[in-house]
Amino acid sequence: MFQKICPAEIDDNLFHLLNDQWMLVTAGTPDHCNTMTASWGGLGVLWRRDVAMCVVRPQRYTLKFMDESDYFTLSFFGDGKYRKELQLCGTKSGRDMDKIAACGFTVAAGAGNAPYFQEAELVIVCRKLYWQDLDPSHFTDPGVLDQCYPEKDYHRMYVGEIAEVLKKRD
Ligand SMILES: Cc1cc2nc3c(=O)[nH]c(=O)nc-3n(C[C@H](O)[C@H](O)[C@H](O)COP(=O)(O)O)c2cc1C
Repeated sequence: MFQKICPAEIDDNLFHLLNDQWMLVTAGTPDHCNTMTASWGGLGVLWRRDVAMCVVRPQRYTLKFMDESDYFTLSFFGDGKYRKELQLCGTKSGRDMDKIAACGFTVAAGAGNAPYFQEAELVIVCRKLYWQDLDPSHFTDPGVLDQCYPEKDYHRMYVGEIAEVLKKRD
């Protein structure tokens, strides 16, 4: 069972969540959605709203779902949990297989009918506010381009207003 909490009540260290646990970025509807593993993104405050941000490269199947949906979700699974499943969702494409079925995940509906996973420990449901393709000419440190974009596949960044935060009850 999940409990709804306020964004200010998220007491996990976000650097730990992103760097070590990773997250699933999911968009679409509970009946037709796609998910991918991500470790780049963040939470913050923008435009007088609590927001979450994630970045998706153009070749990801998930991009189409992000673009066609008003909501997306970020699901975190706890330390060391579902590592195999997160590896799979981060190396296989939903174009080629049903990753959600392969992981045995159960899809649930959050605010705005946004799909998330019952198996998660923490879910952040976001209402899309803004997107932008990263512009290589705006990088002030060319090292980032060399390191992260040898294929010139610049991410599309999405900022969503946090609509709901769900935390698994102990
Ligand atoms: C730990 C980890 C972090 C990742 N972070 C991102 C990310 O932030 N953005 C991104 O576009 N892809 C990221 N990926 C790659 C996608 O998850 C991967 O390409 C996935 O297969 C895309 O699936 P899709 O084609 O079904 O969307 C990451 C992969 C792993 C394993």
